[in-house]
Amino acid sequence: MPRNIIIDTDPGQDDAVAILLALASPELRVLGLTAVAGNVPLPLTQLNALKVCELAGRPDIPVFAGCAEPLARRLVTAEHVHGKTGLDGPDLPAPKMRLQDRHAVDFIIETLRREPSGTVTICPLGPLTNIATALQKAPDIAPRIHEIVLMGGAYFEVGNITPAAEFNIYVDPEAADIVFKSGIPLVVMPLDVTHKALVTRPRVEAFRALGTRTGIAVAEMTDFFERFDIGKYGSEGAPLHDPCVIAYLLQPHLFTGRHINVEIETSSELTLGMSVADWWRVTDRAANALFIGDLHAEGFFGLLTERLARL
Ligand code: BDR
Ligand code: CA
Repeated sequence: MPRNIIIDTDPGQDDAVAILLALASPELRVLGLTAVAGNVPLPLTQLNALKVCELAGRPDIPVFAGCAEPLARRLVTAEHVHGKTGLDGPDLPAPKMRLQDRHAVDFIIETLRREPSGTVTICPLGPLTNIATALQKAPDIAPRIHEIVLMGGAYFEVGNITPAAEFNIYVDPEAADIVFKSGIPLVVMPLDVTHKALVTRPRVEAFRALGTRTGIAVAEMTDFFERFDIGKYGSEGAPLHDPCVIAYLLQPHLFTGRHINVEIETSSELTLGMSVADWWRVTDRAANALFIGDLHAEGFFGLLTERLARL
């Protein structure tokens, strides 16, 4: 039986690769994509989500528009990383498919109430605004969620948007705080692991060598996306942050981490959005997340390339 997932996303090149990986994998049933403002404003993230479904040849996937602004702050975006469109690199055609009428938050709530309890996994790849809003509006859905596997936060790598904070958490720290305190089983892919999922030259050439529309588009996305990280970190290539979430669902043995307490800073101006991870277990605060620290990079890229070849 395939596993039911909802992907909450702000595409983003790495979000796009994560969505493609999910759509290429028969172990997963994507119930819908919910777009949120993040890397770029909502009108662009929702458009990009549609484009990615069409690239995958899956115009049947329902796509919903969600929250345009964080819960309590003004939106911060990341065009400096992802380009003006959020999905710079490939030239993807304007989508023919349309957004669903319902709001993403209502789709999340209705799906969790409809499907048998414990059978839906939520996969947030952007700021946690849609998820927190759904939990606030319908607290009854929390115990029905199988788990939340999300990309966000950092401990050893600290920050990428400020010296202290990772982008997804920083954009909506109040939403992240709600999710991390929700009691829902959490698996967290912080920068500590995603910075080890680097698209080196041979890896990007393996995507291109697939020779398919998807393989070439993914190579063009990572070619664009890597400029920023190579310039900033001197790393070998772009980190594929968000695909770590989907790869974990498919092959959890590729990842290692610790069950620890993770809390979100919501008040300090200096460290706003910091994910304070008790990696060394120096407090007696209860564990609330499986916080991933490492991955088997060759296995991860092998899986990704093999799956993308199916599209
Ligand atoms: C996260 O922020 C976005 O730029 C990426 O899509 C990823 O979800 C990494 O900090
Ligand atoms: Ca993202």
